[in-house]
Amino acid sequence: MTSKLFTPLKLGCIGTLQHRVVLAPLTRNRATEPTLSPSSLAVQYYRQRASRGGLLITEATHISPESLAYPATPGIWSTEQVQGWRQVTDAVHEKGGFIVCQLWHTGRVAHPDYGSHPCNRELHYQPGVSASPTQIVDRQGNPGKTVTYDGTKEHAVPKELSLQDIFRLCEDYANAAQRAKEAGFDGVEIHAAHGYLIDQFLNNGVNRRTDEYGGSVKNRCRLLIEVVEAVSSVWPEGAVGVRISPHDAPNGGNTYYGCKDSDPDAIYSHAIQLLNRYALAYLLVTEPRWVGKYDSTPESDPGFEMPLTNLHKYRSLFDGVMIGAGGFTPATSYEASKDTEKGYDAIAFGRWFISNPDLPERLRTWHDYESRGRQGVPEPPPLNRYERATFYAPHEKDGYIDYPSMDFFNESTESTESTKNPDFKGMVAGKYELVDQSQIGTSLKDIKSNPKSKM
Ligand code: FNR
Repeated sequence: MTSKLFTPLKLGCIGTLQHRVVLAPLTRNRATEPTLSPSSLAVQYYRQRASRGGLLITEATHISPESLAYPATPGIWSTEQVQGWRQVTDAVHEKGGFIVCQLWHTGRVAHPDYGSHPCNRELHYQPGVSASPTQIVDRQGNPGKTVTYDGTKEHAVPKELSLQDIFRLCEDYANAAQRAKEAGFDGVEIHAAHGYLIDQFLNNGVNRRTDEYGGSVKNRCRLLIEVVEAVSSVWPEGAVGVRISPHDAPNGGNTYYGCKDSDPDAIYSHAIQLLNRYALAYLLVTEPRWVGKYDSTPESDPGFEMPLTNLHKYRSLFDGVMIGAGGFTPATSYEASKDTEKGYDAIAFGRWFISNPDLPERLRTWHDYESRGRQGVPEPPPLNRYERATFYAPHEKDGYIDYPSMDFFNESTESTESTKNPDFKGMVAGKYELVDQSQIGTSLKDIKSNPKSKM
């Protein structure tokens, strides 16, 4: 029996995927300063992770400098940025892959200090805006902390966007969508998740507006829908995806940047039902078992052991392709893909794809092994263990392009030709610990490097 993850999937007008192991959007802080264009390392990073018929989603990419909230994160508003992204999309297409650009506005997560970034000095945006002037606070109610170019500072009280600002914001989305087209992307994804601007409008713990963008669930979904329409004025039906992150606050569950709602199920159900009107390429849903503060090592992450919640709540509400993300392991991706009717249509991997550029191939061997009852097929290769210290390390090639693929091991032991493969440039054998696929998530405390495993 073939595992569903390795069967084709039609993705709107983007194309037909040949497998359903998707690269989740992953901020890596390696953009070139001060232009905030992707660097040549980014071209290599995405090329390494591209595969025939595989889907890559870019790291979150600012639609305008109003969104700047972290150092060295890329944008998609300028000609220089478009040129940088064009090299990325060309590299992915050469390998037969698909790539969509995740469009991002951070809203109140942006500290006003980013107003002095050269991009803002030129374009005169004032970062630090939101639905309402509600500040990000920690669990004790004190102002939360964030990174600036001058170290850690307290989050500021954001400026409430006026109706005129919202009109301009939608134009910024349309402009970024147009730029993404010029850069050769196959589609775009609207980042409406994880406590960033659109999520701030959805959640009534942040959105206190009394105009047509606040109050009822319908009003709080208005910005999301207007952004979908703005982006769809540039891209055809079936080329636009949306990411949301339904959470389970206020019951003590995961929230993103303090975004809470008095009735999360109501707002996210309504949003999904509205999105059905737009023939989206896909809806990417984050499972709340992924919590940033626990995601540092495989052993310390309880999310790998937790059940899916959003799949069961929202699958039946959405008519199109639904991609799940958050806490998937080789074993749970296999389990989840067995249910062809009600499961996710595809699975986006974050951390394991950071450390395994050829993750789809490594998972394929695991899925084959499992589906044949572990008999008569070679044991699947282990995965490189990820190292969180280099997840967000500005400008570093370590932890970015040096995780080795299986082919790298095979070729480099057999010939010296490996250096001719552009994917292999910078890869380092033996630098990272290896983890047996069967151990990931099933017995976290026992995960150990597996020196005996051969790649
Ligand atoms: C993320 N995530 C994320 N999500 C998103 O929508 N845009 C982004 O730019 C990022 N950036 C990012 C960076 C890093 C280093 C991590 C670890 C995560 C969330 C990501 O897409 C994914 O949902 C989570 O990593 C959970 O999936 P895994 O890692 O459990 O497979």
